[in-house]
Amino acid sequence: MRQGTHRELPPQWWRKAVFYQIYPRSFCDSTGSGVGDLRGIVSKLDYLQTLGIDGIWLSPVCASPQVDNGYDISDYCAIDPLFGSMEDMEELIREAAERKIAIILDLVLNHSSDRHPWFLEARKGRDNPYHDYYIWREGKDGCPPNDMRSVFGGSAWSYVPELGLYYFHQFSPAQPDLNWDNPKLRRELYDSILFWVKKGVRGFRLDVIDQIAKEPDSYITINGPKLHEYLRELSAACFQESSIVTVGEAWGANVERARQYSAADGSELSMVFQFEHMGLEQTDGSKWNRKPLYLPELKHCYEDWQQGLHGYGWNSLFLNNHDLPRIVSRWGDDGQYRVLSAKMLATMLYGMEGTPFIYQGEELGMTNISREIGEYRDLETLNYYEEARQAGLSHERIMDSVHSRSRDNARTPMQWSAAAQGGFTKGEAWMEVNENYTFINAESQTDREDSVFSYYRKLIRLRKEREIFTEGSFRLLLPEDERIFAYERESEREKLLVVCNFSGNEQTFTPSHEYETGRCLISNYGDLDKCLRPYEAYMIYVQKA
Ligand code: GLC
Repeated sequence: MRQGTHRELPPQWWRKAVFYQIYPRSFCDSTGSGVGDLRGIVSKLDYLQTLGIDGIWLSPVCASPQVDNGYDISDYCAIDPLFGSMEDMEELIREAAERKIAIILDLVLNHSSDRHPWFLEARKGRDNPYHDYYIWREGKDGCPPNDMRSVFGGSAWSYVPELGLYYFHQFSPAQPDLNWDNPKLRRELYDSILFWVKKGVRGFRLDVIDQIAKEPDSYITINGPKLHEYLRELSAACFQESSIVTVGEAWGANVERARQYSAADGSELSMVFQFEHMGLEQTDGSKWNRKPLYLPELKHCYEDWQQGLHGYGWNSLFLNNHDLPRIVSRWGDDGQYRVLSAKMLATMLYGMEGTPFIYQGEELGMTNISREIGEYRDLETLNYYEEARQAGLSHERIMDSVHSRSRDNARTPMQWSAAAQGGFTKGEAWMEVNENYTFINAESQTDREDSVFSYYRKLIRLRKEREIFTEGSFRLLLPEDERIFAYERESEREKLLVVCNFSGNEQTFTPSHEYETGRCLISNYGDLDKCLRPYEAYMIYVQKA
């Protein structure tokens, strides 16, 4: 018998839904261990219900040595004791369902932990039945089979002396890539997914799913030739219940591929998380090398995605996750205009078509951190520091990149109150809370009408009330303007105008006549003026005659 009951969910319910991503270790600690846990999440469900979300995407909570904070799984059907027990998980699913909140799990299917029993077996011998669950190659003249690099730095090949073979890993050596060409491996993965479906989980976020069909001999990591074949098989085996929602993380997706991933026949996924808008400030192909955001480029990027998927597929909408710096520090102003610019960025995004994902703390306007390297915990950041030092870059230059780009910006503990450690833990937090918790925290925002929290709450409500958000077409206004991001949505009976000032200066913008009699649905200043004030944003709605 299914434990969380969501039978009433209609197909494609997720088109009108808003999801909230929880990074469990940093969300709420109920035991004083310094690490967030499942019971901590249960204790905050009322908070999430107040915000108005429909689902929680939980970053991985399965058994893991935690080399990459759970993205290295050693048992797909067990809960890591760090986060609690299976009973805690069942309670979370049940308590969430009572509040009409669905639980979406994070599936890490591209690789396992090197402590997974499959890998421990696989490395015992070339004829071990699990050997072929992973990707092994002979070296060349005492060197790795080729010069492929891991995303986290260093070679993508690690040597196992007992076997005289190298195994392939796109991430750290503790995350060996699974061999999707092996049907037995695929079947075992599907069985573990079905285990969670039976428990009442309502969907999955699929970690780096466009990397599963790799062909390392041809240097292919993303979008391998068999990718869509595997996705269709996975979907047919695991996601056929109509209320299951699936979100594929796909760094390599373009509009055309996203149409295929999210095609309405449901043969692959519900939607993808794509990152084109997140890569616009990057140069030299490295996330650590930045250039300033050029607004027209961002606007055209959104235009392509909004128009390209309208009527063909489905978008996800996000500005933050556990791998990205905080958006208010990135595209907004985390000083004087923090509250206004956090609301402006939300307005820009929430007027669009797609399913929004809020990352914990975004609804409070949480910001980046700037710390000494010894205070960082993320292995990607620490590896980058070492490699960049070895390449001769100065400490200052490296730290400048770390401060703006490190994944730890998103991973500082959630700021619940002005109490010690932001109310996150009664012990010692695994990573220090951002010192601005004294004035940026949930307790001071939930009851305040003018808070970032209340603004998100209102945006979520608006999206549910009006069809235009899910159905309208998208038209970009002032495409080349470098400070104003304005667009229209239009359906048969409704029109929506969204206007955002991305600068700290006044701008001029006059809505066209048809909006004169329109209704202002939301505005971050609380009223409208003749000019656009710093970081001002609003939405005007009209019903057509
Ligand atoms: C994804 C996750 C990231 C993780 C990586 C390897 O990009 O979001 O946190 O490190 O995959 O699993």
